Amino acid sequence: MTTGQPAPEVPGDRRGHRVLVIIPTYNERENLPLIYRRVTDACPDVHVLVVDDNSPDGTGQLADELATADPARTHVLHRTAKNGLGAAYLEGFAWGLSREYSVFVEMDADGSHAPEQLHGLLEAVEAGADLAIGSRYVPGGTVRNWPWRRLALSKTANTYSRLALGVGVHDITAGYRAYRREALEKIDLGSVDSKGYCFQIEMTWRTINAGFIVVEVPITFTEREIGVSKMSGSNIREALFKVTRWGLQGRLHGGRAR
Ligand code: GDD
Ligand code: MN
Repeated sequence: MTTGQPAPEVPGDRRGHRVLVIIPTYNERENLPLIYRRVTDACPDVHVLVVDDNSPDGTGQLADELATADPARTHVLHRTAKNGLGAAYLEGFAWGLSREYSVFVEMDADGSHAPEQLHGLLEAVEAGADLAIGSRYVPGGTVRNWPWRRLALSKTANTYSRLALGVGVHDITAGYRAYRREALEKIDLGSVDSKGYCFQIEMTWRTINAGFIVVEVPITFTEREIGVSKMSGSNIREALFKVTRWGLQGRLHGGRAR
């Protein structure tokens, strides 16, 4: 044990929920130990799954060391090459769905998503949400240290998505989330193919269309201090193209979501 907490009797047990926090990594060597420590300190009863895409900086090896030090609650998946955040999460979901986890959390490794706010997401799921989104754009939510251009891009992407898809979610691209198992089981994950933040939009869209309850919980998003973002122009184009297509399809089929 590294934190002095008693070992959980059931994997990741939290009041009957077994929680798996999935952390995708690509070149997060300096960030991983920090986020891991914060997660296990804030929520000692959750399990952590690191999904590394063969990071050249050795993040995967570091993850193995964390798992070796605390094998009961720490797990690692190694993928062979960088293939996007979405593919990494899908592999993490599949891993967790084949085990007895009931809540699946998405969290960035770079410190943007505060583990100290994870309780809020888990409480929303306990209160009945099928998907709890850690939202920057509802009252009480904030973004720290983003250049105005990135903030403007994110807000524009969210406003466009909300209008095009006709949904009420204010932070549809948010990467800090908790899914109830039933939602992931019902969505056809094999047909989800978005890579960048479009993955978050696609998953939200499918969750809403499958009739699940989506709740936004305010969070403070803090831009990373170490390392660099992996988002690119092609991610933006992917999102714009797909959101427009889904929006048009939704209207053609009578608008499946509100
Ligand atoms: N395994 C793997 N493979 N991990 C990846 C990959 C990949 O190809 N690309 C990124 N990651 C990991 C990073 O190492 C980090 O832990 C996390 O995914 C987020 O990546 P960032 O590059 O820091 O993303 P961002 O800060 O630009 O975007 C964040 O905010 C967006 C909304 O504004 C993320 O939370 C996005 O999901 C979110 O849509
Ligand atoms: Mn980031």
